[in-house]
Amino acid sequence: MTHETRSVTVALDGRAYDIVIGRGVLADAGRLIAERVAPPLAVTISDTSVAKLYLEALQRSLEAAGVATRSYVVPAGEGSKSFAELERLCGAILDDGLERGAAIVALGGGVVGDLAGFAASVLLRGIDLVQVPTTLLSQVDSSVGGKTGINTPQGKNLVGAFYQPKLVLCDTDSLDTLPRRELLAGYAEVAKYGLVRDARFFTWLEEHGPDVIEGIGTARAEAVERSCRHKAEVVAGDEREQAGRALLNLGHTFGHALEHAVGFDERLLHGEAVAIGCVMAFDLSARLGLCPVADAARVRRHFAAMGLPTGLDSVPGFAWSVEALVDAMYRDKKVRGGRPVFILARGIGDAFISREVDLDAVRGLLVEAIAA
Ligand SMILES: NC(=O)c1ccc[n+]([C@@H]2O[C@H](COP(=O)([O-])OP(=O)(O)OC[C@H]3O[C@@H](n4cnc5c(N)ncnc54)[C@H](O)[C@@H]3O)[C@@H](O)[C@H]2O)c1
Ligand SMILES: [Zn+2]
Repeated sequence: MTHETRSVTVALDGRAYDIVIGRGVLADAGRLIAERVAPPLAVTISDTSVAKLYLEALQRSLEAAGVATRSYVVPAGEGSKSFAELERLCGAILDDGLERGAAIVALGGGVVGDLAGFAASVLLRGIDLVQVPTTLLSQVDSSVGGKTGINTPQGKNLVGAFYQPKLVLCDTDSLDTLPRRELLAGYAEVAKYGLVRDARFFTWLEEHGPDVIEGIGTARAEAVERSCRHKAEVVAGDEREQAGRALLNLGHTFGHALEHAVGFDERLLHGEAVAIGCVMAFDLSARLGLCPVADAARVRRHFAAMGLPTGLDSVPGFAWSVEALVDAMYRDKKVRGGRPVFILARGIGDAFISREVDLDAVRGLLVEAIAA
C-alpha cells in the first residue's frame, strides 16, 4: 500500500528536519524512522486512547524495519503534562535502561508531543525525538517548531524547552478516529494560517474546508502541508518567538483569556477559543478602522459554516465578565511592558503585531460580545 506523500522541510541551520504528510504514513513509519534517524531502539510514548488505536501498528512497522521497540503509555488528557507524569515516565524509561542512540517517538496529540518532547530533551541531556502527531492540532501546530513542556500549578506550559524533532510523521488517515469536535478545534489553527499570512489559502479553505474535515480526497494532506509550510517558514525565521512567530498567536490573546475565564475545561477547547478569538481580533481590527468590515464578516461566516463557535454564547449559561477577561489578558505571559500584545489584521491574510491597542476599544468589543 503506497500512497503519495508530501514533505515539508523545517530549515534550521544544522538541525533541519522533514515533516512527511499523507495517507498511510503510519504503516511506513518504521522505514522512515530507520532511514532518517536510524535509532537502535525506539521508545514510543503514547496515551491510553491513542495507544489502543495506533501503537501496535507503529511498533510492527518499526520492528519490520529492524528497530527494537519499547512503549510507555500515559493517561489521556492535559493532566499528563505534569511534573508527576514526567517523573514517572523518565523513571520507568531509565529503569528499563536507556542508551544515547535511542530515540523517543511521540505518538499522539499535543499532550503526548509536549510531554514526550520535553522528556526527550532532558533524558541523558537530550536524545533524538520523532513526532508522530495524531490530532489535527498537533499535525499543524504543536509537533512543528520545537516547543515542548508541561504545566504547573502556576500556569500552562511554563516549564519546558525548545527542542526540535529529527522527523515529524503526519498520517492524515489517523484523523479518521478523532472526535469531530477535536478535529474542528484543530481546524481553527489551520484557518488561522490563512488569516495571518495567506489569503489564497483562506479562500481555498472556504471551498474545501468541509473536505478537510470529512477526509475527502487529498484535502487534509493539502491543508496540513500548507499549514506546516507556514509554521516552518515562521519558525525558521524566528525560532525563539521574538517577533514573526508571535503573528501565529492571532486569536490567542482573546482565546487564552476566554479559556482562562472558563477554567481551561472541556466546555471550551483551545481551538474553539482560538476560533472565537480570531473572530474578535478581526472585529476589533474592523472597529479600529484597520480592516474592512467585510473581511471580519467573512471570518465569522466561515467559522460558523464549519460548525465552529464564533461567539461567547458557545458556552451556555456561563457568566462572562469583561473585567475578568481584561484581567486575564494582562496576566498572559506574552504581556510585555504592561500592555498585552494583540495580533490585528489589515485584512484576510495580512496580520500584524500591535502593542498600542486602546483598552477601551477592547472593553467595548467585549461588552457587545457578552450582550450578543
Ligand atoms: N508545543 C506547541 O507548540 C504547542 C502548540 C499548540 C498546542 N500545544 C499543546 O497541545 C495540547 C493540545 O493538543 P491536542 O489538541 O492534540 O490534545 P490531546 O493531545 O489531548 O488530544 C486530544 C484528545 O484526542 C485523543 N486522540 C489523539 N489522537 C487521536 C486519534 N487519532 N483518534 C482518536 N483520539 C485521539 C487524545 O487521547 C485526547 O483525548 C495542549 O497541551 C497544548 O498546550 C502545544
Ligand atoms: Zn493555539
